[in-house]
Amino acid sequence: MPKVIVFFAHPRPHRSEINLPLFETARSIEGVTAVDLYADYPDFSIDIDREQDRLRAHEVIVFQHPLYWYSAPALMKEWLDLVLEHGFAYGHEGKALHGKIFLNAVTTGAKQDAYSQTGMNHAELRSLLGPFEKTADLCGMRYLAPFALFGAGRALEESRLESHRLGYEKLLKALVSGRLDLQKAAAAPVLSGELESFLLTGEAV
Ligand SMILES: Cc1cc2nc3c(=O)[nH]c(=O)nc-3n(C[C@H](O)[C@H](O)[C@H](O)COP(=O)(O)O)c2cc1C
Repeated sequence: MPKVIVFFAHPRPHRSEINLPLFETARSIEGVTAVDLYADYPDFSIDIDREQDRLRAHEVIVFQHPLYWYSAPALMKEWLDLVLEHGFAYGHEGKALHGKIFLNAVTTGAKQDAYSQTGMNHAELRSLLGPFEKTADLCGMRYLAPFALFGAGRALEESRLESHRLGYEKLLKALVSGRLDLQKAAAAPVLSGELESFLLTGEAV
């Protein structure tokens, strides 16, 4: 069974309405290692060896974070800059991540229609997260479409949080059991709480 690790980044978790409950869900799933990066490294002093060992020990890597300025909170970028070293993650000898799966589980303040060619951002979420996809590509990982909750600021009052939380649970369990249709999930523009069509039927792979 693939081992899944969720790296969570939120600089103010006590003010998080959405990501914190999602992370608690990740924490509760057997077979998922849940890492709170800001709790582990409040001073940004990242233990590179520990993080590389964590990566070696897992086959699926999830970055869970709110979208901040079209990217992730700063510690996540620091983590990428320091942990994905030459000779480990890329370069002639750098094959530690080859064949692993990577995805962003992200929440956005703006509504879904803002993330389209004709919307406010004139781009899809997946293309705005391009630096993560390119990083995954360069390191030989398979990038899946982002699992996204749009319009996060109104998700609670519009009763959208619970279905998204259940979708996240389903996604992580499907990754742990090998029941996610990786080809389909890699090709999609975005993954949402409606996961049924991305699940394989029959025997786990
Ligand atoms: C510093 C900062 C930058 C943000 N940048 C974006 C952004 O680029 N696009 C967007 O849609 N929302 C943006 N937001 C809104 C957050 O994505 C939103 O508040 C978050 O997903 C809600 O999740 P939470 O309740 O876990 O904090 C930003 C919020 C902050 C505080």
